[in-house]
Amino acid sequence: MNKASNYLYTGDNIHFLHRFDSESVDLIYLDPPFNSKRTYSAPIGSKAAGTSFKDMWSWDDIDEELLETLFITHPCLVDFIKSIEGIHGKPMMAYVLYMAQRIKEMRRVLKEAGSIYLHCDPTASHYLKIVMDDVFGRDNFRNEIVWCYTAPSGSVKSFPKKHDIILFYTKSDEWTFNADAVRIPYKKLNTNKGQSHFGADVSLSSKVRDEYLHRGKMPESWWPDFSPVGRLKKERTGYPTQKPLDLLTRIIKASSNEGDVVLDPFCGCATTCVASQQLNRKWIGIDIEEQAAHLLVERLSDDAGMFKDFVHRFDFPERTDLPIESPSKPELKQAMFDEQGGKCNACENEMRIVDFHIDHIIPVSKGGSDTRENYQLLCGNCNMIKGNRPMEYLRSKIAKRDNLLSQQITFGR
Ligand SMILES: C[S@@+](CC[C@H](N)C(=O)[O-])C[C@H]1O[C@@H](n2cnc3c(N)ncnc32)[C@H](O)[C@@H]1O
Ligand SMILES: [Zn+2]
Repeated sequence: MNKASNYLYTGDNIHFLHRFDSESVDLIYLDPPFNSKRTYSAPIGSKAAGTSFKDMWSWDDIDEELLETLFITHPCLVDFIKSIEGIHGKPMMAYVLYMAQRIKEMRRVLKEAGSIYLHCDPTASHYLKIVMDDVFGRDNFRNEIVWCYTAPSGSVKSFPKKHDIILFYTKSDEWTFNADAVRIPYKKLNTNKGQSHFGADVSLSSKVRDEYLHRGKMPESWWPDFSPVGRLKKERTGYPTQKPLDLLTRIIKASSNEGDVVLDPFCGCATTCVASQQLNRKWIGIDIEEQAAHLLVERLSDDAGMFKDFVHRFDFPERTDLPIESPSKPELKQAMFDEQGGKCNACENEMRIVDFHIDHIIPVSKGGSDTRENYQLLCGNCNMIKGNRPMEYLRSKIAKRDNLLSQQITFGR
C-alpha cells in the first residue's frame, strides 16, 4: 500500500489497518458512527440514495480474535471499558471496545510527528477521550475542538444539541502544525474606547496592528464557521452524516504538508479524500459499505477527472516494513522453539519440537500477516482449543481447567 498514491478500501477498517506499515501515515481523521442507536439512510432521489449504515452496537460487533493484544498492551483500558457496562450498559461497552481496537492500530500506523482528529459527539466523547488518553498518552492531548452550528430543533425541555466534538491528539511532543495556513480574519469588536480589531489590544501602534490584521488570527478551539452540509447545496451528496469540506480543509492544512498521507478509516462519502486531493495530499479512505465506494467514485470523477489516480481495493495490502516468512520454513520453527524455551506459549508445558504447531496470533482472515511477530508455537492440545479464536479464550479455558484440577486435588486429599 505504501508505494502508489491514493487508495480506497472497502471492508472493515480493522483488517486493513493491520496490514498497513507502521509509521506510514501523517494525519488521521476519523468520523466513526457515534453510537446514536439509529440507522442512517440517504434520502431517495439524492446522489447517495441506497446508502445506509447502522449506528447500534452489540457484542457481535466485537472481533474477539483481535481483543487479545489489547488485553496484553492496555490492561487498564480493558478494565475501564469493562466498567462501562455497569455505568452505561453493554451496547456502549461494546462500542467503546470496538473503537479501542481500531484506535490502537491507528496509533501504530501514524508517523512520530503525526496527528489524529477523532470526530464524535457528546453521546460517547467522554468515554472515547479516556481511550485516546490511554492509547496516545494524556500528554499528547492537544485540543477538544467544538464544531458548533445551528439547525432546526424541536427541543423545548433542554437546549438544542448543536455541536460535535473533535478530539485532537498527536503521537509525540513534536508534531506538524501549520498555524499560518489556517489563520482567519480578525472580527471587529466594539469596545468603550471605540472600534478595535483586537479587543483589549487597542493600545497597539497602527503599524503592528496592520501586521496583525494582515496575518489574521488563529481560530480558537471552538469552530462556529462551518455550516452543516445540509445547507451546502454544491457539495451535498445526501450521504448521511456527510461533513463539510471546509472543516476537513482546516484540519488537513493545519496538520499536514503537501505530499503527506492522510488516512480516513471511516470515510463515508469521502469528504477527507476530496479535501486531501484538493490540497495535494495523498489519501487513503476505508469504508465498510460498498455503496459508499460507488458514491465516492462518482463524487471523485465529478471533479473534472482530477481523481484518476486512485486504486479501489477489497483485498488486504501486504506489509512492506516486516519481512514475510513462510510458516513452513524449518529454521523458523527451530528459532521459535528456542525463543519460547521449548514451552507452549499458552499452557507452558514442555514438549518435543515435533509436538508443536505454528499458530497465527491474528488469523490471516482478519488481516493477520505471515510475519514473525504474528506467529507463536502452541502444543497440539492448545492449538485445537484455540482454533480461530483469540488467545484470551484459550487462556480462560486453561485457567478453568487448572482451577478444576486444583479443586479435584484438594477434594482428593
Ligand atoms: C459518520 S459516517 C462518516 C461520514 C464521512 N465523514 C463523510 O463526510 O461522508 C461513518 C462511516 O463509517 C462507516 N463504518 C462503520 N463501521 C466501519 C468499519 N468497521 N470499517 C470501515 N467503515 C466503517 C459507515 O459505513 C459510515 O460510512
Ligand atoms: Zn499448550
